[in-house]
Amino acid sequence: MPALIVNGKKYEVDVDPETPLLWVLREQLKLTGTKYACGISVCGSCTVLLNGEPVRSCVTTLAMSANQEITTIEGLSVGKALHPIQQAWLDESVPECGYCQSGQIMTAVALLKNKPEPTDEDIDQAMSAVLCRCGTYLKVRKAIKRAVRKSKGVV
Ligand code: FES
Ligand code: FES
Repeated sequence: MPALIVNGKKYEVDVDPETPLLWVLREQLKLTGTKYACGISVCGSCTVLLNGEPVRSCVTTLAMSANQEITTIEGLSVGKALHPIQQAWLDESVPECGYCQSGQIMTAVALLKNKPEPTDEDIDQAMSAVLCRCGTYLKVRKAIKRAVRKSKGVV
């Protein structure tokens, strides 16, 4: 039976190894923060981290992700303490309808891991990978910059 390590917890799931990770997360593990939108690797709403890197869970199979570290939006906070990116999102009131936002946040977390002080161009390039029909990109950029300032103790 394929094993999954999600948010630090190990699960064994009895489903076809070719099942998209998105459906295993949502249907088997009831982690519904990861959203289905296009289903064809275009929009980024379904983004999760696989070994710290963003992947599209609608086209990543269970077999591709078995026994590797998967992080979903549910795994970012520690107890009641929000992840700095989640806090910045709240502080800047980023979400509109909210549907794309878990994909946005997971992408931003990966960006800051790889580039702790991204330029505007770095931010725009990384975040344009996740489509937002509500057009929250300017607020996304402000929130990422706020998180960077806070990480340096400048609020
Ligand atoms: S639902 Fe996966 S990229 Fe759109
Ligand atoms: S907040 Fe509505 S699609 Fe992004």
